[in-house]
Amino acid sequence: MEMFSKAIVRAPSENFADGLTSVDLGVPVFETALVQHRSYCEALVRCGVSLIELNPDPNYPDSTFVEDTAILTEKCAVITLPGAPSRSGEILSMSETLAKYYDKLASVEPPGMIDGGDVCQIDNHFLIGISDRTNEDGARQLSNFLNAAGFTSSHIDIRDTCGLLHLKSGISYLGENRLLVTNALAGPHEFDGFELVDVPEAEEYAANCIRVNDYLLFAAGFSKVRNKLDTLGYNLIELEMSEFQKMDGGLSCLSLRF
Ligand code: GLY
Repeated sequence: MEMFSKAIVRAPSENFADGLTSVDLGVPVFETALVQHRSYCEALVRCGVSLIELNPDPNYPDSTFVEDTAILTEKCAVITLPGAPSRSGEILSMSETLAKYYDKLASVEPPGMIDGGDVCQIDNHFLIGISDRTNEDGARQLSNFLNAAGFTSSHIDIRDTCGLLHLKSGISYLGENRLLVTNALAGPHEFDGFELVDVPEAEEYAANCIRVNDYLLFAAGFSKVRNKLDTLGYNLIELEMSEFQKMDGGLSCLSLRF
């Protein structure tokens, strides 16, 4: 599993509640979101990464979900083109930031569109979800960039998989050839050869977790999934995510790790 030394994060802006959401969990409380974001940052530091902290950007209420703006690997960096029109401008400041760390940045161009939340890295392979935010053209462009850098990729259509905003809303790679996956996604042959850890009904939000070096960051409040991961021997860091969940965001969305 890739080791990470850095993570880009951006605290939510005061108008965070004006962002996009498809869930009906109430209005997020800004102050609580800030506290939860700070705990998330502290957890990343505990995992051994240095933080690159961008300023909150009220022009883009969803911009705390930095993961959607780029795909970062040890061999290449690709600026995405987020599929929601209100988010497409988020790539400008991310490109400026990443130019400090990568000699070359590739970019997905229209009519392609792609959100980083639809891209799941499984060692040297990338699984790319075709969703309402990521189209075939965007997935094909990303595959070309990744293939040129020596990675393989495959595409999976999740548009009929109800309840998933992004591919990674329903699946996480845990390392050790293991995938944490919701029942709605568990069928496809793409997952043959992996050990699947299934996510029980009503705990689907917990499917989005992130392995960062020796730790697994995991959403608090989902005891069945937590017990499974605990039994498998992971070093769990449990984080309160209620305010981000209200805005359709998960743990992976809040950072770009590289
Ligand atoms: N609120 C996260 C998104 O919809 O992109």
